[in-house]
Parts: sequence; C-alpha cells; structure tokens
Amino acid sequence: MEWSAELSVGFDEVDAQHREFIRLLEEVDARIEAVDERGAAAGLRALVSAAIRHFAAEEAMMERWQYPDRQAHKRSHDLFLQDVLALEREEAEVGLTQEVVDWARSRLPEWISFHMLTNDAPLGRFLASRAMGAPAEARGREPKAS
Ligand SMILES: [Fe+2]
Repeated sequence: MEWSAELSVGFDEVDAQHREFIRLLEEVDARIEAVDERGAAAGLRALVSAAIRHFAAEEAMMERWQYPDRQAHKRSHDLFLQDVLALEREEAEVGLTQEVVDWARSRLPEWISFHMLTNDAPLGRFLASRAMGAPAEARGREPKAS
C-alpha cells in the first residue's frame, strides 16, 4: 500500500500520521517479503503502537471539536484494534502463517484505505473547517463556548 493524494483527508496533522502508518505497513510487507520473521513481528508491534497513538490523537481532536460522528468513528477504531491485536498475538504464538501474511497484506491495507476514505475524509473536512478557520495559536486549544 502506498500513500497517494486521494488518501489525503485535507488536514495536515492527520495526513502526517496516516503517512507514517502506511510507511510502517510497507515495512511489515517488506519484512514478510524478506521472510524476516523477527522483523515482521517487530513491524507489527510498531504498527499496533502507532495505531493506538494515532487513534487516540484523532479521538482527542474529535472530542475537542465535538465532531458529531465521533462515537461511530471511535467504534471503527476499536474494532480495528481488536483485530490487529489478535493478529499480533497470533503472529507471536504461531509465527508468520499464511493467514497472518494474507491478513497483513490484504485485510489490513483494505481496512486502512476504507477507513481513511469513509471515516477520516469527512473528519478531515470537518477539522479543516473548524480548526483551520481559527487563528494558528488557537488551534489545539478548547474552542470558546459561544
Ligand atoms: Fe480514524
């Protein structure tokens, strides 16, 4: 999976985290390709911790700006985390089975592009309209109650 302009959600902070996420995913893919089991396992762990950090960051922004669809969006993150943690566990217990490889190479990138296009793009537009309209020094702060 490669980064492309269509994946941009139009909000730099989120885009930067998505790029990093895709870079880690490519790293896992490269380790699998090289039949480097330890590298793939380390890559999966890095991917899981990046996902946890990134989801927490998005969820904090959704709360801060009271994004209307934040609950459904968070549910989508939670389901993905459950899945990816199960994959990481399976890899740790039984190694790079065909199932683990297929999952890492197809379901994972499919979920990520689907989530970016259906959940993160609307969030990015919302954040851009709220946060980008505010003065730079106010971005990241609580919006004033009006
Ligand atoms: Fe998201």
